Amino acid sequence: MARIAPSILSADFTRLGDQIAESEKGGADWIHVDVMDGHFVPNITIGPLIVRAARRATDLPLDVHLMIEQPERYLEAFVEAGAHFLTVHQETCPHLHRTVAQIRELGARPGVAINPATPVETLVDILPFVDLVLIMTVNPGFGGQRFIPECVPKIDRLTRRLEAAGRDDVEIEVDGGIDPDTAPAVVAAGATVLVAGSAVFSRGAISDNIRAIRRSLAVEV
Ligand code: DX5
Ligand code: ZN
Repeated sequence: MARIAPSILSADFTRLGDQIAESEKGGADWIHVDVMDGHFVPNITIGPLIVRAARRATDLPLDVHLMIEQPERYLEAFVEAGAHFLTVHQETCPHLHRTVAQIRELGARPGVAINPATPVETLVDILPFVDLVLIMTVNPGFGGQRFIPECVPKIDRLTRRLEAAGRDDVEIEVDGGIDPDTAPAVVAAGATVLVAGSAVFSRGAISDNIRAIRRSLAVEV
């Protein structure tokens, strides 16, 4: 069964603890935290301070997605703040192998993310070293964007590459525009973790929204 990781980017930050607790109660598996620096992506969001606050609000794994340049400068701060998974973008890391090794040495589980225009094939030589690959299905930077369906074949290609590398334990996470309409196709292509921001937090009850995504996958709730 695919896991669901609500992205707090679309949460009500005046009630962040409650929103995270409600997500956990509503069946969230992980909590996804989007870190943006105004350089790699146009938007600026949050830092280790909020990760630390989220850590106090839940026991669920915190899945921290770094959309920042030179992420190696901040790995230790995010792990200390409570990141369980720490994902960097391939596009920001000329020394990706070293960065991934640093994440593991710090005690977190390393992930690598790619933008819609970055081929899965650029990851072939890092697959033996990561625990998670994040396929972006929007251009990173903002919640609430339209899903790019042309990214779905990349998930399928990654699934096959991981099988070939003997790494079918690696999580395949998909992020951007995931809702009950788009979730079934990405899961059919091999996604094991679905990030959803606006589909979980923007309207209605958080638990209903998580359930709607699960139902779209035809899983009993
Ligand atoms: C986008 C972020 C996403 C974002 C997803 O740059 O990485 O995690 O919060 O939001 P939705 O689900 O609204 O597309
Ligand atoms: Zn994200």
